[in-house]
Amino acid sequence: MNSFEYRNPTKILFGKGKIQKLKDNIPENATILFAYGGGSIKKNGIYDQAMAEIGTYKVIEFSGIEANPRYETLMKAVELGRKEKIDFILAVGGGSVLDAAKFIALAIPYEGGDPWEILVNRTAAKQKMAVPIGAILTLPATGSEMNGNSVISRESSREKLSFGSPLVFPAFSILDPAVVSSLPKIQIANGVIDAFSHVLEQYMTYPADAPIQDNFAEGIMRTLIQIGPKILANPSDEISAGNFMWSCTMALNGLIAQGVPTDWATHMIGHELTALYGIDHAQTLAIIGPNLYRVMFSNKKEKLAQYAERVWDIRVGTLEEKATEGIEKTVDFFHSLGVKTKLSEYTADYKQTAGIIQERFTNRNWLALGENGIVTIEKVKEIVEMSY
Ligand code: NZQ
Ligand code: ZN
Repeated sequence: MNSFEYRNPTKILFGKGKIQKLKDNIPENATILFAYGGGSIKKNGIYDQAMAEIGTYKVIEFSGIEANPRYETLMKAVELGRKEKIDFILAVGGGSVLDAAKFIALAIPYEGGDPWEILVNRTAAKQKMAVPIGAILTLPATGSEMNGNSVISRESSREKLSFGSPLVFPAFSILDPAVVSSLPKIQIANGVIDAFSHVLEQYMTYPADAPIQDNFAEGIMRTLIQIGPKILANPSDEISAGNFMWSCTMALNGLIAQGVPTDWATHMIGHELTALYGIDHAQTLAIIGPNLYRVMFSNKKEKLAQYAERVWDIRVGTLEEKATEGIEKTVDFFHSLGVKTKLSEYTADYKQTAGIIQERFTNRNWLALGENGIVTIEKVKEIVEMSY
């Protein structure tokens, strides 16, 4: 296992009714920016519950944060936050609202000019201050509730970029599994696939003498395989919902990445598919991930075979046969959740995609992705073309 330094400052309040602890966790006399999305929280009662808990605070609402939150929308929140001198952000929603809150938190005190630089020039590392954030998670998927990452889109240039900063870990996140019951089936499937792919990005590299990390990762994947179909069949099953929620958090709170090589090329390519065609984040991962493993087979076959054995219980065959079957099982799993895995099944306008992505990655100098830079720009083209 490689050396590492790890700190995760987010306090998790997990379980039924934990929203009642909201007030205890927000600083006294805070002026709160209450950030949310397109209104699902008004339909399922989470808005009313949250408002009832924070009754005496000064609250400024900002709604309309879209899935794949947009810079153009968020700059309106930044303006509002500055005008109202907010000093706490309460994000109530899925990964998009939480990611939006993180951008707003850094952008409000940003002094370097246009906050888009946080994404395009990765200036977050230089920043000393951010508005503190608390979260009520309504969609298990991204892990944003317990990490310092955020992904923001820009409508005008059709870009989707990410940043990370230790300043934007939520101070606390409330995880009540009851929120799962109102989720549309496609969002549940997306959540399972996103979390599963997060584990794969931190696991499917090469053996690194880190059995504790491998066992954590395999345990999360096995759990998602067990509970994914159950929660899809019955979103009100609070036991499965709780395990689903915690699996998603554990998949991307930094723990399983420590001491091991990571890849993340599937995510970087996938973000382009959302930016270009508006395909849901998890669906882009289902399109790209299996083909990345096919193209990078010779580099990843040891871990692919280990995954096939320990996660899918494939015990017979050569290392190569097991590795190949592991990839096929992954595709079958995504299909079983109702998610398609070919780009042409989402858009008819796909033939230029590899060329556009190659050009964008070249312009950004993203020429060697993945562990040890093995996913070269030529490999990216091959992966995308295989995904049509
Ligand atoms: O906007 P509302 O009305 O709230 O509706 C949302 C939205 O339409 C709805 N929804 C959320 N909770 C609900 C609900 N509907 C009914 N009942 C509930 N309880 O679901 C829709 C999708 O929400 P969104 O937040 O967009 O989904 P998700 O959590 O999958 O987040 C996706 C975003 O997170 C980024 C993605 O790129 C994408 O932009 N990611 C963030 C990461 C991070 N911060 O670490 C890592 C991920 O890899 C990912 O990139
Ligand atoms: Zn993801």
